[in-house]
Amino acid sequence: MDTNKRPETMERITTPALADAFIKEQVAALREQIGDKKVLLALSGGVDSSVVAALLIKAVGRQLVCVHVNHGLLRKGEPEQVVKVFRDEMNANLIYVDAVDRFLDKLAGVADPETKRKIIGAEFIRVFEEEARKLDDIDFLAQGTIYPDILESVGVKAHHNVGGLPEDLKFELVEPVKLLYKDEVRVVGKALGLPDSMVYRQPFPGPGLGVRCVGAITRDRLEALREADAIVREEIGKLPETPWQYFCAIPDVQSTGIRYVDGEGKRYMGWAVIIRAVNTVDAVTATVPEIPFAVLCKMRDQIVRIPGVNRVLWDISEKPVATIEWE
Ligand code: XMP
Repeated sequence: MDTNKRPETMERITTPALADAFIKEQVAALREQIGDKKVLLALSGGVDSSVVAALLIKAVGRQLVCVHVNHGLLRKGEPEQVVKVFRDEMNANLIYVDAVDRFLDKLAGVADPETKRKIIGAEFIRVFEEEARKLDDIDFLAQGTIYPDILESVGVKAHHNVGGLPEDLKFELVEPVKLLYKDEVRVVGKALGLPDSMVYRQPFPGPGLGVRCVGAITRDRLEALREADAIVREEIGKLPETPWQYFCAIPDVQSTGIRYVDGEGKRYMGWAVIIRAVNTVDAVTATVPEIPFAVLCKMRDQIVRIPGVNRVLWDISEKPVATIEWE
């Protein structure tokens, strides 16, 4: 039997009761597969790896070792949330790796998008591999592979894929959600008690804010981007219907601003932040939803208070011609 093929008879998991049945079945299967051995998981905090972590914690508790790599390109509050949810609330065996300086040093001065992606992907594997080598007696590697990843020959998840580990670190794979579609993973995540902010997170690229900090990443622009992104997620997130993806990008461009000091206008250069919101079904094409002007203004008023920022733009480009991300 091809274990990578979803049986036609498999019912779509749409309700909490179906999710509970799936969880029960998977927990038993994971216990059977893993026994008293240890499992390693790269836990990004995205919905897929989070659901896999929660399933494994339920099945084998602290035999699961989660490694969370903070590469400095995550959204505001994300690394903290991973620690809070998994270590503090679920008592997970979690290794938190602060690799911020390491990634940003490697990326310093690199402006080409594909080179940036390659550096982030390769460095991620290197950091994960180093952590794996520090641990003894690991037999299994868990992955948040989902069914669309199997269906697409080249998944967009290549960056998070730790399939690039060297030969002597090859573990047996544990992929408990590999036959599920994204909406099913969310139903299961909800049934496992994960917070809504994790379960209904919008898609976020593997290289994270790295591809939204356009050109060579600098810490000041990256921090401004992280703050602006948090504002946009908060404000657009309050709309009755939220777009598929909404975020900010920060180009490597400064423009003139003016500040009044004692009635006298002083000109200075500041960064421009771009707000981007799109609707799509499959990310192949995308349209731009209407955002009420009052909401745009509310975001603008907060974003221009971020140090170094003096201009806010709204990107109304559709895909095609533009891609969703700026890089
Ligand atoms: P584009 O910019 O190609 O984006 O229109 C389509 C979707 O893919 C996401 N994206 C990525 N996801 N690694 C990822 O895991 C990447 O390098 C990457 N680049 C783009 C993007 O956020 C959008 O949802």
